[in-house]
Amino acid sequence: MSDATIIDGKAFAAGLREKVAAAVTSLKDRHGLEARLDVVLVGDDPASHVYVRNKGKQTEEAGMVSVEHRLAVDAPEQELLALIDRLNGDPAVNGILVQLPLPDQIDEQKVTAAISPEKDVDGFHVVNVGRLWTGAEAPVPCTPYGCLLMLKETLGDLKGKRAMVLGRSNIVGKPMAALLLAEHCTVNIAHSRTRDLPERCAEAEILVVAVGRPEMVRGDWIKPGATVIDVGINRIDAPEKGTNEDGSPKTRLVGDVAFDEAVKVAGAITPVPGGVGPMTIACLLRNTVIAACRQNGLPDPEV
Ligand code: GUN
Repeated sequence: MSDATIIDGKAFAAGLREKVAAAVTSLKDRHGLEARLDVVLVGDDPASHVYVRNKGKQTEEAGMVSVEHRLAVDAPEQELLALIDRLNGDPAVNGILVQLPLPDQIDEQKVTAAISPEKDVDGFHVVNVGRLWTGAEAPVPCTPYGCLLMLKETLGDLKGKRAMVLGRSNIVGKPMAALLLAEHCTVNIAHSRTRDLPERCAEAEILVVAVGRPEMVRGDWIKPGATVIDVGINRIDAPEKGTNEDGSPKTRLVGDVAFDEAVKVAGAITPVPGGVGPMTIACLLRNTVIAACRQNGLPDPEV
């Protein structure tokens, strides 16, 4: 059997960013409106800084206004809630994203609940979660939506497909299951306590993996010909690449799926990096331009 088709998330995300940019231009030219995304970063987590910088850059490249708010690592919860309150009330702000994780003194659920559902471009607010599960119009969490777009591009109609979502987080696993169900898939959700995990995964025609464990899913967990979406991004030691100046081993990024094994069995698979990752920010930009249209009583753009 020949190797799986590699799903090119990087190219697909570039296409989506172009569509968003066209919608932003049209909003400006036809209605004189600017779309604006405000990102809040609390503390100094290096990975979060990288994400936030990339978000800001891509927001501007799409023609939107990007505003970043930085709070100290020991900022009291009240300071963050007051900032969110101000952004909720500012009609120039279309989208609000508070970068997670937050420092321990701040209650993540309280913060998520404080963001106006109409400006919640992450789709994490309980009202939006409820809207998603009941089939109402809502901003959809970015990572699972990116996965769904790639699945539809690869497979076309998903109706009746047997899907397994491995992982049950609020950010990926649960909304992914809701989206697949809405596409008429038969959906299973598996997790660390699932019995006979390899056998359950091997029944799936669509396997979405979001567990945060490097290379956990092996080739023999995959149904031959299945479409595999790997959400994991894990940095692991790669002594085969040599050492850094300080003697520590060089590292490399791997997914939650053992790619070299899986590529020989799957029909199509996303690589890490270059699969799901680039789609997440593209979907955030999409949610922002849609939020701007809805807040101004305009029909959804074609993105
Ligand atoms: N941290 C890691 N991923 C995300 C995301 O999608 N949204 C937010 N707000 N924080 C994150």
